[in-house]
Amino acid sequence: MRTKLVAGNWKMNLTPTEAAAAVEAFIKLVDARENVDVILCPSYVSLPKVRELIRNTHVKLGAQDVFWEESGAFTGRVSASMLGDLGVSHCIVGHSESRGRFGKMETDASLAPYFAETDHTVNLKIRRLLFHAINPILCVGETLAERETGKTEEVIAGQLRGGLDGIDPAELYFLVVAYEPVWAIGTGQTCAAPEADRVCGFIRDTIAGMMGTDVAEHTRILYGGSVKAANSAELFQQPNIDGGLVGGASIDPGEFSRIVFSA
Ligand code: PGA
Repeated sequence: MRTKLVAGNWKMNLTPTEAAAAVEAFIKLVDARENVDVILCPSYVSLPKVRELIRNTHVKLGAQDVFWEESGAFTGRVSASMLGDLGVSHCIVGHSESRGRFGKMETDASLAPYFAETDHTVNLKIRRLLFHAINPILCVGETLAERETGKTEEVIAGQLRGGLDGIDPAELYFLVVAYEPVWAIGTGQTCAAPEADRVCGFIRDTIAGMMGTDVAEHTRILYGGSVKAANSAELFQQPNIDGGLVGGASIDPGEFSRIVFSA
């Protein structure tokens, strides 16, 4: 039986001062809820403050990204050992906003290189995180064009294979995968619960094929993309959905606590 998990991805929102206020309000609302795992992923600059405020609670600390090298001349990057030192237990990798979503969505193609994560860099990041005993939250998902041309499964299987390539299954016991259809992120357009469940089931089968059924049964597969209190209960009831990766709605302590309660 997998414990439900709800992770809040604050993206580039909330200053450290605002983050502190949000965490304090949120903790008051959800502290009794110990049968659901909760992870807050603030921006790097808010990690120390959030860590301090969640001490002695069951809420865990997550980061939104990491760089794959151990240390060195990589201006602006943050390493897994730095995250580990700050008490980070989970880290998002391969989010579609890092994979080059802006290019794919035909906003300004010149922005794409800034976010050009590939399956290979995702793989390097996962390896580095595991080396530092930080659990990856691997994001996968198709764009609207990929869905409309029937490529959803092919794209997701490729992201899973590329991201997890060559990693020992024994290291992936605490893996978290987030199914985040790109067209549903920040758009208000949620994937219908039965369809999200079907794709999450496909993800579990693919992991079973790659890593064995034991890893697949332990992997928590989250749905992400316009999750809110109004749709979270239906999503989280699906047999293959073990919780959510919540963006916009996780910034509001009241809304986010309602989502956690629905799990
Ligand atoms: P959203 O974002 O909930 O704002 O759609 C989810 C995510 O990007 O993780």
